[in-house]
Amino acid sequence: MQDYRDFLGEVLIDEQKLQNRIAELGAEISRDYKGKDLLLICILRGGVMFLTDLMRHISVPHTIDFMAISSYGVGARKSTGNVRIAHDLSAPIQGRNVLLVEDIIDSGNTISSVLKMLNARQPMSLKVCTLLDKAERRKAHIKIDYCGFEIPDKFVFGYGLDLDEYYRNLPFIGVAQPDKFSPRD
Ligand code: IMP
Ligand code: MG
Repeated sequence: MQDYRDFLGEVLIDEQKLQNRIAELGAEISRDYKGKDLLLICILRGGVMFLTDLMRHISVPHTIDFMAISSYGVGARKSTGNVRIAHDLSAPIQGRNVLLVEDIIDSGNTISSVLKMLNARQPMSLKVCTLLDKAERRKAHIKIDYCGFEIPDKFVFGYGLDLDEYYRNLPFIGVAQPDKFSPRD
C-alpha cells in the first residue's frame, strides 16, 4: 500500500484544531445531559476515533454501543439511504437518551435511515453528533444537534475516515488530491 502522502492534497483540519473542538463538543454534551442517563452509539467504522476522543470529554456517566451499516447498490461515496444493519446494537435502547456519533454527514441519507430504524425502538430521546458536515451536499432533511466542523464538498480522509479503507489512523483530516484519487462509485 502506498504512503498517505501520495494522496494528500492538504491538511484541512489539523490535530490541535480537531482536539480543541472535540473538547468543546464534550463540554456542551456534558452540560446538556447533566442528570440524564446517556447512551452513545457509534456507527462503525468511521466514527470510532471521534467516539473515543469525544467520550474522554464527556463528564456525565454514559454507556457506549456500536452498530455497522451497509449500503447496497451504492459505492463508497454515493448513497441512496438503502441501508441494512450489518452489525446490530448489543442491547435495547428503549427509554434511553441516545446520541448517535458519526464521522461525516454527506447526503444525509445514511443517518436518516439509521434514525428511522432507531426511533422505531422507542428511545427516550435521539440526537445526532457529527464531526464533519458537508452541508452543501445534503439531500435528506435531518437535524444535526452537535457538529464539529462544516466542510466543503471535497473527499476527505484520516481521523477515522478512510480512503479505500486505509489511513483511518491519521490524527488529522486531509483532503484527497482529486487527480490521484476519486472515490469509487
Ligand atoms: P451520506 O449517506 O451521503 O450522508 O453518506 C455518509 C457516509 O459516506 C459517511 O458515513 C462516510 O462513510 C461516507 N463519506 C462521505 N463523504 C466522505 C468523505 O469525504 N470521506 C470519507 N467517507 C465519506
Ligand atoms: Mg460513516
